[in-house]
Amino acid sequence: MRTCYVGQVSQEYLDKTIVLCGWVHRRRDHGGVIFIDLRDHTGLVQVVFDPKDDCFQLAGTLRNEYCIFVKGVVRLRPSGTKNTDLMTGDIEVVCNNLDIFNSAKSIPFHLDDINLSETTRLTHRVLDLRRSQMQNNLKIRHLVTKEARNFLDALGFIEIETPMLTKSTPEGARDYLVPSRVHDGHFFALPQSPQLFKQMLMVSGFDRYYQITKCFRDEDLRSDRQPEFTQIDCELSFLGEEEIRNIFERMIRDIFRSIKNIELPDPFPTITWKEALEIYGSDKPDLRVNLSLIDVTDIVKDVDFKIFSSAASDSSSKVVALRVPSGASMSRSDIDSYTKFVSVYGAKGLAYIKILDLDKGRDGIQSPIVKNINDKALSLLIERTSAQNGDIIFFGADKKKIVNDSMGALRLKIGTSDFGRQNSLFIDSWKPLWVIDFPMFEYDEKEDRYVAIHHPFTSPKDGHDIFLEEKRYDKVISKAYDMVLNGWEIGGGSIRIHRENIQKQVFKALKLNNDEVKDRFGFLLDALQYGAPPHGGIAFGLDRLVAIMTGAESIRDVIAFPKTQRAQCLLTQAPSTVNVEQLDELHIKLRNTDD
Ligand code: AMO
Ligand code: AMP
Repeated sequence: MRTCYVGQVSQEYLDKTIVLCGWVHRRRDHGGVIFIDLRDHTGLVQVVFDPKDDCFQLAGTLRNEYCIFVKGVVRLRPSGTKNTDLMTGDIEVVCNNLDIFNSAKSIPFHLDDINLSETTRLTHRVLDLRRSQMQNNLKIRHLVTKEARNFLDALGFIEIETPMLTKSTPEGARDYLVPSRVHDGHFFALPQSPQLFKQMLMVSGFDRYYQITKCFRDEDLRSDRQPEFTQIDCELSFLGEEEIRNIFERMIRDIFRSIKNIELPDPFPTITWKEALEIYGSDKPDLRVNLSLIDVTDIVKDVDFKIFSSAASDSSSKVVALRVPSGASMSRSDIDSYTKFVSVYGAKGLAYIKILDLDKGRDGIQSPIVKNINDKALSLLIERTSAQNGDIIFFGADKKKIVNDSMGALRLKIGTSDFGRQNSLFIDSWKPLWVIDFPMFEYDEKEDRYVAIHHPFTSPKDGHDIFLEEKRYDKVISKAYDMVLNGWEIGGGSIRIHRENIQKQVFKALKLNNDEVKDRFGFLLDALQYGAPPHGGIAFGLDRLVAIMTGAESIRDVIAFPKTQRAQCLLTQAPSTVNVEQLDELHIKLRNTDD
């Protein structure tokens, strides 16, 4: 039907007749001449209808989003009417044959409107997806999967599908359950990840597996989380932690190079989980922000300022400093708003010291707490933070988690603010890193038991099995690693447990009794008894990776049909009620209904 795409029309076609198909992006009438911007997925081109032409009459009926056929001759635009914003801006198509495939209802918004609510966009997703930004995002998503497949294929990985109707895979979220019609009262779970299947494929000898697959997690949603999302999921046998990390940072480097022409660092820096929390207050630090937290707990043990000294004498608390170069210029109201900001993370205040003039001693320092800090502590604080005239030092003193969360968030808030950008505290760049050596467990107060930080199939570090045996669960470090890029966790993986006895010890640590273990993971323990090879892997969050690469604010912008924050699809109105017959077949009776 057509001779080329809209975005391909160029001076190459001058004076030639071409056929284009697409949508009316915008229509303008100018002194008897009608102009439309015709759009397809490759771009826009101007089409002109002259009153002398037969199709002029029909052109008068065109409205936005009509789907049309245009045959015409390419000519140069008259000088002064060129549009440099448009790839095809130096030419136009003079139409001599127009056909309307389909008219369009008056659309609820213009595609160029960038101030649309999420509700409007998701309700009218079909139209929203016509926008060039969304077309581009989904194209990049396609390129990322294509590049990942090429890379993995070249290294001998094969793609194997694993079941969607399965048993619960613990990745820390609730399961989406699917009732079985045939087995009364029994349910499938949609996979939170293919974790156990990929491990069993290694036991089956496949050596290198990958799958680009949906995962389902019923958890609280945020801009970087969806109830169904896609992983590039990989597993390999007979390789160690570093070898695996090496392969996958190469994959990410390849993807960035080929799609964005960006050279990521080689190698990626590696930091332990402990260091990440100490220096950045986060296990997914954004290294574009050039600020770090400095532990000063030891310095403030004996100061008169009780908030500091009592935190310093409690082993579950700490005191950290955040030195902000040039921050002494911050106003009282800036500081008040930062104090309010950290309170969201549970911080009870935000002490600070402004360094105005070091030569003047205490007179050169402005601070509500300095009178309660002795000379020795004060000079040690200045020395350890390397504070200079003109700086401000903020302090957080509380339980370690509160300090990490609040001061880590403050670091990002200040770094990415206008102040941070003006003072080179934020460098717009690509900053990947590995976070390694995660603790195996954390204690869950609510559940009164240890839970796995990654998942329960992660191997302890060499030599740490002994802590498992001795039930010193706090001490166990695991062979888990996360890949972090600009503050987003884009991938996570680990070396797995390949020996049944260790796996059983981990289940014991999680307080699972023998029956629960047999019922939930019996098939895995069985598989581990048949010569399971050492193995490990990783899964990347495809949606997050593409969101970062496209600069999207939310992963919803890189998913064709995403769910809202309340886990609904506004386009199809899912989830929805079902009729009683369907429920009956599934042996389900709803509470609070009469039938
Ligand atoms: P993990 O749970 O860390 O590991 O998930 C791997 C990656 O998937 C992405 N991700 C998400 N993306 C969007 N919405 C969500 N709700 C969501 N949850 C996770 C993240 C994350 O880094 N089986 C293990 C992997 C392994 O050990 O090999 C797993 O699923 O980018
Ligand atoms: P106060 O003595 O409560 O008026 O606090 C004096 C200063 O310490 C104020 O600047 C508070 O914001 C700050 N502050 C209070 N609690 C904390 C805390 N837990 N960590 C850091 N600073 C605090």
